[in-house]
Amino acid sequence: MKYNKNENRLQIRAIGGIMDLTIFAGPHPQQVVQQYHDLIGRPAFVPYWSLGFHQCKWGYDNINNTIAVVENYKKNDLPLDTIWNDIDYMQDYKDFTFHNKNFEHERVKKFISDLHENGQHYIVIVDPGIKVEKDYAPYEIGLQKGIYIFKEDGKTPIKNKVWPGVTVFPDFTNTKAHEYWSDLINEWLDEFPLDGLWIDMNELATSCDGECDSDANDISTPYLPPGLKLNKQQLNMNSVMNASIWYNAHSFYAFMEGYATRNALLRKYPNKRPVIISRSSFAGTGRYNSHWLGDNDATYRSMHLSIPGMLTFNMFGIPLVGADICGFNGDTNAQLCARWTQLGSFYPFSRNHNAIGRIPQESYVFGQRITDINRSALKNRYQLLPYYYTLFYKAHVEGSTVVRPLFFEFPTVVDSFVVDTQFMVGSALLVSPALEENQTVVDALIPPGRWFDYYNGTEILGNRRLKLFTPLEKIHVHVRGGAIVPRQQDALNTAQQKKLPHNLLVALDENGNSGGELYLDDGESVDAVSSGRYTLIKYKASFDQSRYTLESHVDRAGYDNGVLGYVSFVGLKSKATKVTVNGSAAKFRVEDDKLIVDCGNSKLTKDLKIVVSL
Ligand code: GLC
Repeated sequence: MKYNKNENRLQIRAIGGIMDLTIFAGPHPQQVVQQYHDLIGRPAFVPYWSLGFHQCKWGYDNINNTIAVVENYKKNDLPLDTIWNDIDYMQDYKDFTFHNKNFEHERVKKFISDLHENGQHYIVIVDPGIKVEKDYAPYEIGLQKGIYIFKEDGKTPIKNKVWPGVTVFPDFTNTKAHEYWSDLINEWLDEFPLDGLWIDMNELATSCDGECDSDANDISTPYLPPGLKLNKQQLNMNSVMNASIWYNAHSFYAFMEGYATRNALLRKYPNKRPVIISRSSFAGTGRYNSHWLGDNDATYRSMHLSIPGMLTFNMFGIPLVGADICGFNGDTNAQLCARWTQLGSFYPFSRNHNAIGRIPQESYVFGQRITDINRSALKNRYQLLPYYYTLFYKAHVEGSTVVRPLFFEFPTVVDSFVVDTQFMVGSALLVSPALEENQTVVDALIPPGRWFDYYNGTEILGNRRLKLFTPLEKIHVHVRGGAIVPRQQDALNTAQQKKLPHNLLVALDENGNSGGELYLDDGESVDAVSSGRYTLIKYKASFDQSRYTLESHVDRAGYDNGVLGYVSFVGLKSKATKVTVNGSAAKFRVEDDKLIVDCGNSKLTKDLKIVVSL
């Protein structure tokens, strides 16, 4: 595909096959994405806890060091919702096993139940390659059912190598393979009630080209770059699947695996939204799974690239996405890891993960200063979760993005088209991270309108570039005049946070107006939206003569579990002299450039009217 700028022409060259071309006319970028999501399917709704912080490492090689990580997060007053185990937990890298000695089964079960009691979650990795081993049930059953991908002959399972050595691969275009996969997952989860699955190596990624120990002829395609072949660390293209040959079907292998995995989890937990993080994806994956950006490096460049990565996957309809925070390959360092935790605290999917043999990079390992920086980044994330969750709800029901490029919100600002060092969270927050070593100043594009420093409410003028001083302690965030951001007091995990008061950040525009909304539900039911067991509150602020009025409109009050602690206003024309909440005089105070109005923990679903008189 080639775009010829001079001639304003897009050229597509095909090597064969059938092409469906759909043009989404927008005209607004956000509408283009919505129209695309209408076609491929809107993103699955994810549980609230999946928006909390996740810690993983390839190399947590026994249950003790896995438990220690969870304890260290707590000891250091750092939020953590989910702990992950990589392939280390398996016996000989076999799917659906826990290592007999290092992950002693009774201890794993106790670990899971302790996590659950504490409101935390546990996710492990599962790869599609099934180890070829006599008496290993998942292998034998698959063989019996004839559900593997076959060689060219259509009857011998094709073998290749992944972590466990020689493996075969379920053919997820065969519905019998879905039953097989679902049975295995269900039996396993009966014993070990995992909260989600991480499906990896599903491109498929293998270590032999085509198949091991065989140079069987394979098909190819015209126009291959010299020296390359299609089956490089892949199955042979002429391998046979139920739907077609691998050449035609490999791109949606992970999509089908993800669909099967989702259905397996729904069979086990019919009313819990599944969390499945997949490395490979296809158009429509977001209906079933989420995604992380794969193996990156512990470098500033990788950190920078994570921004366009997460933004594009939001456009692709997979909003729960993020990169390995602090970097996967190579050793990270204190400064990079702190900067990355700050940036990663704004990823929709926020997980610290690194490769085996690399130095530890959990949020508490780099000494007091860095731990403090990480804590404030993570706590800030937790405070913003109601805003994120509301955006996820919108993406699910309307098709849209959670994080988006600046030009989505400011399509007439030509300078914004190329910005990949900053991004928007919804339409309210502008994040301008430091992305270079020893950086002390961020050169930020501030779009038109009124903007306020997120932390202290100080106004900055929009429609210009601004140099922002950025000590290691600070990631710049600005709130847009005209936006209302719902937030909540932070806690060490989302379950503990659930009971804590909410608050609102009301940023006024030039005319003293603003608006926003808050979506709430039990955080996990599949049918929360369809059965109406949710609450949706719209907030609107306006200015009249010398008074600001903030009013709530409860669109739906189907889930009643929250109170409003306070409301912060930024952007008032002058000092407030009097504030009433629902007609009664209310306590208020000024902190930095914010007016903070005490709402006395009134019920969120009760109508709210705050009047601020100047
Ligand atoms: C792949 C994954 C990586 C994982 C490793 C071991 O490289 O992308 O995240 O840690 O496999 O399972």
